[in-house]
Amino acid sequence: MKRSLIKLKILVGIISFFLWANALAEVVLPQHEKSMSVGNVDCASSTCHGSVVPWSQSPVLQNEYFTWKNMDRHSQSYQSLLSQKSIQIAQKLNLAQPAHVTTQCLNCHTHYPDKKLQGKSFSVQDGVGCESCHGPAEKWGVTHTQKGTTHQDNIKHGLYPTSRPLALAKLCNSCHVGDATKFVSHRLLAAGHPRLTIELNTFLKIEPPHYLVDEDYKLRKGELSPVKIWAIGQAEIAIARLDMLSDPKRNHQGIFPEQALFDCSACHHQFSQQQISSKINQAPGVLRLNDSSLLMLRAMVQVALPDKIGQYNRLVYELDQSFSQKNTLVNSFENVQDKAKKLSLLIQQMVPALEAFVYSPEKVRAIFITLVKGSPDYSNYADAEQAYMALSSVGEVYLQNYSKNASQIKNSMVQLSKELASEEQFQAQSFIKQYSKFAQFLQVQNGVQ
Ligand code: HEC
Ligand code: HEC
Ligand code: HEC
Ligand code: HEC
Repeated sequence: MKRSLIKLKILVGIISFFLWANALAEVVLPQHEKSMSVGNVDCASSTCHGSVVPWSQSPVLQNEYFTWKNMDRHSQSYQSLLSQKSIQIAQKLNLAQPAHVTTQCLNCHTHYPDKKLQGKSFSVQDGVGCESCHGPAEKWGVTHTQKGTTHQDNIKHGLYPTSRPLALAKLCNSCHVGDATKFVSHRLLAAGHPRLTIELNTFLKIEPPHYLVDEDYKLRKGELSPVKIWAIGQAEIAIARLDMLSDPKRNHQGIFPEQALFDCSACHHQFSQQQISSKINQAPGVLRLNDSSLLMLRAMVQVALPDKIGQYNRLVYELDQSFSQKNTLVNSFENVQDKAKKLSLLIQQMVPALEAFVYSPEKVRAIFITLVKGSPDYSNYADAEQAYMALSSVGEVYLQNYSKNASQIKNSMVQLSKELASEEQFQAQSFIKQYSKFAQFLQVQNGVQ
């Protein structure tokens, strides 16, 4: 091939890569999509997705509705707004109306598009239904059953690209972390709402899946790589939380910054519990961010983008310092916002590289070991919980290729999970001790220092 032709090909490659990345950056979440939502009943007939058992002749299982209705919490999410707990939350928050008619709650607990875009079979009682994740079905609902229609055609007709890790992370995180339009604030938590948390790969498993990633699936949509899903999920959590912190409209509740963005145990703990953290960046007595996603991402950056790790660690350090640093700004929170914006930008720039990264067995092993080595930093419940879920997601792939010590590794995981059994009774020192034992064992096995 001529050199100029090669150059041209590279250029076209780069341009189309950016177009693709851009297309994703602009992906519209199902709730904001401007076509009609037809409602779950349109998907639920027994010859469509409402079969009780999977079909052997079809490329998809066809019993998706059954799985969703009977095993997936999302089908109960509207019902939850009628529960005693919700009545209590509504009272404590002094809501003008009951929870099940309050937009703030419906935005996350149901598919809640604009009234004009709700079709005649649409029902808010379906909760987080098919169209919450797959997008309003006005157009793709008609064409997806026609012969010869490909997955790409469906996406062109408004099917949300749930099989792409970045789009998937944006979707699930929009309700499980929050975004510019919805959020579980500290006020909502204090009124009784459960604390939100998510690790994308783990949550996909416990949902549970109503699809089978078999050979046919891979031909149509490609692989669903658990480690990539974990990594992109963490990057997107970090971006979402940093953006909330740096947005002046969202980061304050009275005299405090939005407490839901911080480590709960920084304020809520008994004096008898040893809290002074062994984290490198933090002095005693300083408010700590919930930085669990930043810690997870650190392991990922170290292995996948080693030339960025210095810059990454520096920006995380500067953000942590910004909470306690003396400065001359009139509004000292501007310093925090500035640091949060810079870190968010760096992570946004890293996302395409994390998507393109090849998660080979050796790299997965390196990520696994780096995660295990991070133990002294996992010193509060949110960090510990994320570390555990990360080890499950990455460890599963690690064990597919390095199964020599599978039973000891699984045992260590059981020990760690016991440490996490109760948030109230969580003991950081005890968790770190178990974790360090695990780290030593793995280092000996792998000959890593
Ligand atoms: C429109 C908002 C919304 C979206 C999008 C969403 N969820 Fe949820 N999810 C919820 C709500 C609300 C609940 C709580 C349901 C209940 O119990 O009332 C929930 C519950 C869950 C649970 C059960 C948690 C538990 O404690 O048992 C899992 C797992 C879960 N979601 C995973 C996911 C995954 C994975 C995605 C993306 C594929 C996703 N969710 C997308 C709103 C959403
Ligand atoms: C940013 C999205 C979001 C908003 C806003 C939101 N929720 Fe939730 N809610 C969730 C998710 C996600 C869960 C599941 C948490 C989990 O288990 O991980 C949940 C769980 C709950 C539960 C516990 C369900 C159960 O039985 O386990 C109740 C009750 C609840 N929400 C009520 C409300 C009420 C009332 C409002 C409005 C005042 C509200 N929520 C607003 C996302 C949201
Ligand atoms: C909480 C989000 C969520 C909800 C709600 C949801 N799905 Fe899915 N669905 C997914 C994800 C994630 C995948 C896997 C990624 C993909 O293949 O696009 C998927 C995949 C599928 C597939 C493709 C299987 C394949 O082999 O290609 C079908 C069909 C499907 N869902 C139907 C439904 C139906 C019908 C409903 C309602 C009863 C529903 N889904 C509700 C998230 C959701
Ligand atoms: C900056 C300190 C701070 C942080 C960080 C913080 N809280 Fe709070 N929290 C408070 C204060 C102050 C109150 C109100 C006083 C009280 O009720 O103890 C409160 C009250 C609460 C209550 C109500 C307690 C009651 O007795 O009614 C809950 C629940 C709660 N917080 C949960 C959380 C969760 C979950 C997190 C982490 C996501 C968190 N808080 C982070 C300071 C904080």
